[in-house]
Amino acid sequence: MAASNLQTHMSNPHLNQNSRKLHIQEVVTRDGFQAESAFIPTEEKIALINRLSRAGYAKIEVTSFTSPKAIPMLADAEAVMKGIDRVPGVEYTVLIPNLKGAERAISVGVDEFNLVMSVSEAHNLANLKMGREDSFNALSSVIQLAHQHQTPVNISLSTSFGCPMSGITSLADLMHWIDRFAAVGVRGITICDTTGMANPAQVQAVCEAAQSKYPQLQWTLHFHNTRGMGLANALAAVNSGIDRFDSSLGGLGGCPYAPGATGNICTEELVHMFDLMGFNTHVDIDALLACSKDLQSLIARPLPSQLLMAGKVDKLHTAPCQP
Ligand code: COA
Ligand code: ZN
Repeated sequence: MAASNLQTHMSNPHLNQNSRKLHIQEVVTRDGFQAESAFIPTEEKIALINRLSRAGYAKIEVTSFTSPKAIPMLADAEAVMKGIDRVPGVEYTVLIPNLKGAERAISVGVDEFNLVMSVSEAHNLANLKMGREDSFNALSSVIQLAHQHQTPVNISLSTSFGCPMSGITSLADLMHWIDRFAAVGVRGITICDTTGMANPAQVQAVCEAAQSKYPQLQWTLHFHNTRGMGLANALAAVNSGIDRFDSSLGGLGGCPYAPGATGNICTEELVHMFDLMGFNTHVDIDALLACSKDLQSLIARPLPSQLLMAGKVDKLHTAPCQP
């Protein structure tokens, strides 16, 4: 996929990062859509995923196999998974909360199970209706099932930096759950700032501790921009060696069980920033902006994407008329 030519035209050569490859993982049709109130038709979801599939992503989180009573927006998970084109080179992952969700995912075939639980007990009770120990035991059975089906497993650890009900998450608590999941054979771990409470110094400390203890694991950072620290946190993570990021087209999203939650970091803003810095995201920024504009029409309200409003830095304007 053609990378943006933004970098070639606009970046400062002194900032070139030797074209370090980054993996961008789109979550708009899962994290973005799950909190929307008006149902988005199945064929619209499929059409959007098919466009995104050709924009250069490493991974797309297509949907979640959750209870349709809990997340009615994603009740069509099987139909969406069956309906999309599987473009070679793109991994199609899905969010799975329990064994029932795993069986549904196996019935349609997915490239990865993305399991979920919270580091905070209060958030786990609100989101998954059980305590963390019960979640861990249930997810251990899901991991066994995945291994039987040769399907790699990622665990998304929600509230890894902070929880709106319990406050800031300690590094020790986070490392405890990282240790537990590393011991049961996950391929990757996503460290999620579910409600935008992380700050760049905390991000650096977490990324360094996690990677130095488990360098073989596939690490992803998942930020929300709830308090305006999203891109600063992504920068802290990339500078700490992280090369995988979840983000959402247009910045749409937010966990329905986290008071005050807002959208993920915005994919086009993340890609635009990384391209300008000389990183190699492989994502076609112009294709993203076109998809984001159409998504705005689909949900019929402005998306929180600053880039969609302002345009890329190489968008020039005619000078205003002088009197
Ligand atoms: N897929 C489909 N249906 C499911 C399901 C799944 N993965 N898990 C549970 N159900 C159904 C059960 O069959 C049962 O249906 P019934 O009432 O017709 O018998 C009903 O949901 C309740 O089942 P139960 O096991 O008691 O689950 P619960 O009500 O405690 O719900 C969760 C637990 C976690 C499955 C549910 O709350 C959920 O899916 N939450 C979504 C979490 C999420 O995605 N949060 C945002 C992202 S972090
Ligand atoms: Zn999220």
